[in-house]
Amino acid sequence: MSTELAGKVALITGGAAGIGYAIAECFLQHGASVALFDRDPAVADVARTLDAQRAIGLAVDVTCRQAVYQAVEQTVGHFGRLDIAVNCAGVALLAPAESLSEEAWDRTLDINLKGTFLVSQAAGQHFLRQKSGNIINMASQASVVALPQHLAYCASKAAVVGLTQVLALEWGPHNINVNAISPTVVLTELGAKAWAGEAGEAHKKQIPLRRFAEPAHIAATALFLASPGAAMMNGANVVVDGGFTIC
Ligand SMILES: NC(=O)c1ccc[n+]([C@@H]2O[C@H](COP(=O)([O-])OP(=O)(O)OC[C@H]3O[C@@H](n4cnc5c(N)ncnc54)[C@H](O)[C@@H]3O)[C@@H](O)[C@H]2O)c1
Repeated sequence: MSTELAGKVALITGGAAGIGYAIAECFLQHGASVALFDRDPAVADVARTLDAQRAIGLAVDVTCRQAVYQAVEQTVGHFGRLDIAVNCAGVALLAPAESLSEEAWDRTLDINLKGTFLVSQAAGQHFLRQKSGNIINMASQASVVALPQHLAYCASKAAVVGLTQVLALEWGPHNINVNAISPTVVLTELGAKAWAGEAGEAHKKQIPLRRFAEPAHIAATALFLASPGAAMMNGANVVVDGGFTIC
């Protein structure tokens, strides 16, 4: 079955950088139009540079309900439809459990989990009305296994998988597919902060494939989940980790 997304419209949070940006590039290459939601004010320029016709960039903080709902409306107004929502905005604030600040806990849960909830709900209301839709949530290998200094991050990503499963259960009967992707380390800005240097080299040795993922590997997985060939995928947590979590 085809992986073409011609005529489809996708919103991608965190689309100004890293994995979200790679997904935007990949979806554009396969014919979709994309709306990048990112708190980075450069997002409009990023989108224009990607594709002046088929990409728009909206400065949105995914933790703000009103901004999220407005941006979804703006996307539908601009492109005339919405088919896919990719929740990729995220942060990793690392500290030993005994000294993790309440602020770091709240920020992590707000962006990684509440942001995913708000965007899924705003897009989901639209998908329910049109009786079709596709939601892809970026979780992490941290949703499956414990990683040192990742208390808030692991909790947020395990919860993203729980959220994904409940949405898949409730919205599946309405022809809406909801799935998660759980990558291993990807050396984006976020990945490099946690895993550059010695910690990363030690981690890499524990991955059976002995390498980290590239943003394009995660984009290819998102492309599959967004495509007609994945029509029976619902509620899955697709682990893209070089085998790390089987060890
Ligand atoms: N890089 C990795 O190793 C890795 C591994 C597994 C999962 N992930 C997940 O993949 C996703 C993307 O990570 P990345 O490595 O591309 O990160 P990144 O830091 O390179 O990019 C994240 C983007 O999200 C945006 N963002 C952050 N908070 C936001 C908010 N409140 N509202 C709107 N936009 C916001 C940032 O401005 C940035 O453009 C995250 O959810 C992350 O947890 C990353």
